[in-house]
Amino acid sequence: MAPPLRTTSAIATALSIALLSYLLCKKTRSKASSKKTPKTLSVKKARNGLVAAIGNTPLIRINSLSDATGCEILGKAEFLNPGGSVKDRVAVKIIEEALESGALAQGGIITEGSAGSTAISLATVAPAFGCKCHVVIPDDAAIEKSQILEALGATVERVRPVSITHKDHFVNIARRRALEANQVALKHGKGNQNEYLDVKQINGYTSDSGKQDPIFYSDCKGGFFADQFENLANFRAHYEGTGPEIWDQTGGKLDAFIAAAGTGGTVAGVSCFLKEKNANVRCFLIDPPGSGLFNKVTRGVMYTREEAEGRRLKNPFDTITEGIGINRLTENFKLAELDGAFRGTDLEAVEMSRYLLKNDGLFLGSSSAMNCVGAVRVAQALGPGHTIVTILCDSGMRHLSKFYDVGYLSKYGLMPSAVGLEFLGLK
Ligand SMILES: Cc1ncc(COP(=O)(O)O)c(C=O)c1O
Repeated sequence: MAPPLRTTSAIATALSIALLSYLLCKKTRSKASSKKTPKTLSVKKARNGLVAAIGNTPLIRINSLSDATGCEILGKAEFLNPGGSVKDRVAVKIIEEALESGALAQGGIITEGSAGSTAISLATVAPAFGCKCHVVIPDDAAIEKSQILEALGATVERVRPVSITHKDHFVNIARRRALEANQVALKHGKGNQNEYLDVKQINGYTSDSGKQDPIFYSDCKGGFFADQFENLANFRAHYEGTGPEIWDQTGGKLDAFIAAAGTGGTVAGVSCFLKEKNANVRCFLIDPPGSGLFNKVTRGVMYTREEAEGRRLKNPFDTITEGIGINRLTENFKLAELDGAFRGTDLEAVEMSRYLLKNDGLFLGSSSAMNCVGAVRVAQALGPGHTIVTILCDSGMRHLSKFYDVGYLSKYGLMPSAVGLEFLGLK
């Protein structure tokens, strides 16, 4: 039987009231949540932003080298960091510590003298901290590095490579630029008005910049010299990050670690952490041509007579590898806990890079290739059955104009020709 008309219209009224209140309710709910959205988003942003994507890189088994040596050779894939290298960790740590201490003002300029990777990492992460980046780079570094820096929004100065004792070494110029930025900020009343902006002193150095025109604008909020070579934030990035990650990823089951050193931050931070966990983990350096560190580790002296500091330029043709090898002892390297060192040649690094490309699909930069040469040297020294970890610092993409350029390599007699690993005495 059909319901009476009154009942039908009552049901219809009740339904429309229910629908109306549902819609009203929904609107109110969505209003409340849309009020909440920005808050939720900003928390999420802070948690999941670029900085949080740095580190926790995979530890890759390098199959070809492991199979050839009978060891487990593992590479920490640092080229997968957002800024493309191991230096992302260092950049974040340097900026975080400087902001926390007040040495760097919000919106200030981080200056660095770097052959590339650290500068690229600083330029990549600086905006995430609301800061800017000014880079002084030797003009023999691959051109794509300064192109990337400029594309990232950093200001770049390319200068002739000279001895570190020269006032115009790129590191010394970068230090001066931080002081100049502070002078500009003080003059215009910007930046932190605190002890760190003493124009005469920053990071322990005194400026002689009086003769130079300032290159920073009047809205400049001051500068901070990142000083990756001496700033121990570099060491801490690896002691607190890379080292513990390697320990966790191997379940503490590793026999050796090897890496080349530029600033020494990686090898020092990782070796200190691993040795603290297990003193039996052996840590080694692989040193490229032209570097004094092999001598330092194996004989306790950094220089031969003719290599006395200040008398010898870091000749750009000592090695074609970039970012590694040095002729002075940095504060970071001094903390390294090493059991020994190996020497690697440029040709070995070139051959290794092509071997890994062919056999593993790994397209690596020159320092990573040198590290892998080192890993094989350790495997040969320890014998089969050991687990050896090294660092895959950056990708081959940044090395197209030199390390992967046929014309460049043939000019220096470094054309690869190996079929397998015969260049390291293996089949
Ligand atoms: C590409 C690359 N690999 C390796 C290194 C060496 O690392 P560290 O400075 O921690 O010794 C550097 C340093 O600048 C680098 O740029």
